[in-house]
Amino acid sequence: MRGIILSGGSGTRLRPLTKITSKQLLPIYHRPMIYYPLNTLIKAGIKEILIIVAPERAGDYLNLLGSGREFGVKFTYEIQDHPEGIAQAFLIGENFIDNEDVALILGDNIFADDFIEEIQSFKGGAKIFAKQVPDPERFGVVKFDEKLKAEKIVEKPQAYLSDYAVTGLYIYDRRVVEAAKSISPSGRKELEITDVNNWYLAKGELDVAIVKGEWLDAGTFDSLLRAQNLAKEKLADKMVI
Ligand code: TTP
Repeated sequence: MRGIILSGGSGTRLRPLTKITSKQLLPIYHRPMIYYPLNTLIKAGIKEILIIVAPERAGDYLNLLGSGREFGVKFTYEIQDHPEGIAQAFLIGENFIDNEDVALILGDNIFADDFIEEIQSFKGGAKIFAKQVPDPERFGVVKFDEKLKAEKIVEKPQAYLSDYAVTGLYIYDRRVVEAAKSISPSGRKELEITDVNNWYLAKGELDVAIVKGEWLDAGTFDSLLRAQNLAKEKLADKMVI
């Protein structure tokens, strides 16, 4: 299994904090934000990790993270010229993925759970993780049928669908590159990860697990503050990096 951390984007909701640096380099208690998703991948045993960054911040990431040797892993870097969607990670990462399974995690997503078992037992298709949230309309949302099987996934639904948001950790087999090539940009001109998930769902190969522990995307002032407190209270002493 290879890992990708998608750490570009514009971070407009956190301006002016993100005016001169990347959102995912902002501090979360005692570490830069990206250490948290990195910790999730490294803890799960992933050793080859592609870090995708925005061009103007690439030097900062290299200075901070280096080769990966310090953490016992190998980092590769790629540039995303423009934030044209989460699913673009698989086009940028095509050579890196190279016929392996891949776990993608977003650089601003903070999970209290470990995913060792989920990642190590992955057997193909797609596996994503959902969590009940009070503000599902901000995310991709999953509707389950009565057997708790995913029925549909809608990106930022305007009408209520369910409380289950799709979190920023996704595991796919190597066909994810084919899936990403088959989709077109959405109305907001992004290659949507929801469309990739629906590609697998249509084939009956999408597994949706529920996240038990806390999960945050640290992309707003309030969630950034919550992430800091969660890190201090529950995460800091369990990190391996
Ligand atoms: P978002 O929070 O949706 O976008 P953003 O980080 O640009 O912030 P804002 O909406 O405030 O402008 O992105 C979620 C994560 O995915 C975040 O870690 C950035 C990353 N991302 C990319 O790296 N490239 C992309 O094209 C997109 C859409 C997101």
